[in-house]
Amino acid sequence: MAKLWAVKPMSALMNEAREEGEHELKRALGPVNLITLGIGAVIGAGIFVLTGQAAALHAGPAVALSFVLAGITCAFAGLCYAEFAALIPIAGSAYTYGYATLGEFVAWMIGWDLVLEYAFGAATVASGWSGYLVSLLQDFHIHIPPRLTTTYGDVLYLYNAHWMPRMSLPPGVSAASLPHVMGIFNVVAFLAILVVTVILVVGIEESANLNTAMVLIKLSAVGIFLVIGIGFLLRHPHIPQINWHPFIPPSEGPGLYGWGGISAGAASIFFAYIGFDAVSTAAQEAKNPQRDMPIGIIGTLVICTLLYILVSTVMTGMVSYKTLNVADPMAVAIDATGIAWGSVLVKVGAVFGLATVMLVMLLAQSRIFFSMSRDGLLWKWAGKIHPRFRTPYLSNIVVGGIVAFLPALFPIDRLAELVNMGTLLAFAIVCAGVWILRRRMPNMHRPFKTPLVPLVPILGIVTALYLVWTLPALTKEVVIAWLIIGLGIYFTYSVKHSKVQKALGTERK
Ligand code: ALA
Repeated sequence: MAKLWAVKPMSALMNEAREEGEHELKRALGPVNLITLGIGAVIGAGIFVLTGQAAALHAGPAVALSFVLAGITCAFAGLCYAEFAALIPIAGSAYTYGYATLGEFVAWMIGWDLVLEYAFGAATVASGWSGYLVSLLQDFHIHIPPRLTTTYGDVLYLYNAHWMPRMSLPPGVSAASLPHVMGIFNVVAFLAILVVTVILVVGIEESANLNTAMVLIKLSAVGIFLVIGIGFLLRHPHIPQINWHPFIPPSEGPGLYGWGGISAGAASIFFAYIGFDAVSTAAQEAKNPQRDMPIGIIGTLVICTLLYILVSTVMTGMVSYKTLNVADPMAVAIDATGIAWGSVLVKVGAVFGLATVMLVMLLAQSRIFFSMSRDGLLWKWAGKIHPRFRTPYLSNIVVGGIVAFLPALFPIDRLAELVNMGTLLAFAIVCAGVWILRRRMPNMHRPFKTPLVPLVPILGIVTALYLVWTLPALTKEVVIAWLIIGLGIYFTYSVKHSKVQKALGTERK
């Protein structure tokens, strides 16, 4: 039984980090690549979709404070991730950190749990992406059969020559009077995941370059939104005065406005920050991970937090928060300025922006499986590197092939809740790991040190578990079922093939 808690020795991890050759990942990424990788993973459905809902349904204009609150929670975890990623620059992220500190069993479970963050994260975003793409194509009168653009049972309504979900219908329009169809299978989201998978198989450098280009388009769209929005607010100062007043609307019930609404808003837009930790899964592909991993992780968090606060403040100044419960709130806010091309531009930005999130999430997922397979905890094929492309191609193909079905079959909100839960559990483990390793190996050279240990890790654990607690019961049940499947694989395959356990057995003989 004691073997379950076997930790992977730091010396073994350091050796792995130094390995090079055709069977290893390629060290090709600098600090700018890492920050763009981070922004690629972070800015997505959260800002392009969820901000409006969080403002309308929870916090009002004070959604900006929800972003501050969620950002603080992520900062605690981000500082802990930065310490580990610089210390153990291996592709496995939280899984590897868990292995070095809390033992094999916890590491396995966290690796399995990370599937919920990355694979389900990519699936969630694919769902949002298909919504934006279909809407953009409809702006140009290109129509994909609506039944093939949403999940089974989901209803789309025809309004203003656009098929859209009920929530996107303008207030006062009665859904019952509109033509509608029921979805069968979201082919658009399905194909999106498959295309991203092919890109990932072809290579990390190509993926990173493509990602950089798409991140620039996404940031330009956000930048143009801010320029148009701020210009509008300055020209019409009476409009924000009305829309921002009161900045924290009085409470109308649990989680609706007031301080309760700000914290409920934070739990829902937490999704917007997910992904900064994906930078750490690229540690084995960073040229100088000791210096660049903390820059990549913290840089991503700082840039995204500032952008989120700005975008949400400007958005709620431009239009009343009450009108923002739509699938494309940034486009709705831009429409208020009367600039017709503005919303098309935001949609183009969202299409590219969400594509990068899928790319980085699937990249991260395959790297986790790669690390687990290298440790003997998953089947060998998952760690196989393509001799020419130098990518874990089988892991990419299998993960992509399965993940493609998720957004095609399951609704975005259910998927997003699973992602939040998987991520929060990983955050708590990483924070605990930093604290434990500081106690166990206090004198180790740490290229980056989390400040105020154990206070920061403790705050990271408490805030992450608090947000877990706020999630729906169904999500918790699904996650428990998922972890039970994981237990099955661990005890039938992993314990028998674990390299660390084998090494321990040899030492004992
Ligand atoms: N943070 C990512 C998004 O907002 C997952 O889409």
